[in-house]
Amino acid sequence: MVIPAIKISGANKAFGFGRKRNQVLYDLSLTIAQGEVFGFLGPNGACKSTTIKLLLRFLNPDSGSLQIMGKTVGQDEFRHQIGYLSEFPFFYDHLTARETLLLSGRLSGMNRWAIDQRISILLERMTLTDAADRRVGGFSKGMKQRLGMANALIHDPAVLVFDEPMSGLDPVGRHQIKELITELKEQGKTIFFSSHILSDIEALCDRIGIINKGVLLYTGGLEGLLAPGVDLEKCFVSLIEENNHASVA
Ligand SMILES: Nc1ncnc2c1ncn2[C@@H]1O[C@H](COP(=O)(O)OP(=O)(O)O)[C@@H](O)[C@H]1O
Ligand SMILES: [Mg+2]
Repeated sequence: MVIPAIKISGANKAFGFGRKRNQVLYDLSLTIAQGEVFGFLGPNGACKSTTIKLLLRFLNPDSGSLQIMGKTVGQDEFRHQIGYLSEFPFFYDHLTARETLLLSGRLSGMNRWAIDQRISILLERMTLTDAADRRVGGFSKGMKQRLGMANALIHDPAVLVFDEPMSGLDPVGRHQIKELITELKEQGKTIFFSSHILSDIEALCDRIGIINKGVLLYTGGLEGLLAPGVDLEKCFVSLIEENNHASVA
């Protein structure tokens, strides 16, 4: 049996305590096959980042289980299989691009030789070779995003999780990230990324999931969501509005 890249079973999450306790994720189950590009779509506050943080074990679920490449999230070494780009990547401004990647490689437990190999490949791929020894504090948003991608890829993981990788980038920056995702797919990687930019999802994904207010409303191909003659944005908005209406009624 082929192991799924990502398997989430019945995950629930609430924040706060007592009367302030607020459930944000409801019984999420999702299976992503190896080699798939999966777009996780939803309006602000839908629970995209929270789901991603559960996958990285930055947060614990209240119930349910999560697995990455057959390894239970939270148990030994599951992070070796996963690369992550945060919605708001953090960098030490006084480190150079090269030092930043060296730090990440070290934190991933790689040896110096393997880190140096990966750093030169990734700097080249992300067109950061010329900026390799400049401090990250002076980098543009696009350069920081490309460095964030290199960071996520330093240990050559099988599964990549990107939280809103295209948001805030100009068209050139968006195009570069899209190209990279396509390239990673060709290498056989699994990519799970969240977005609210529908045109990006359309171009890249094998399958999408739509989440609203912590409830998964749809998973499948784009064709299953699109009504004839109606564009993706309209289908998406009407699905969300129907759900908002139903949950108020
Ligand atoms: N650390 C936290 N404490 C309390 N509430 C949180 C926390 N993180 C997220 N939330 C709430 O959980 C919901 C989902 O947030 P989030 O996963 O960030 O949404 P998205 O990434 O889809 O915009 C929101 O209502 C948000 O306010
Ligand atoms: Mg988010």
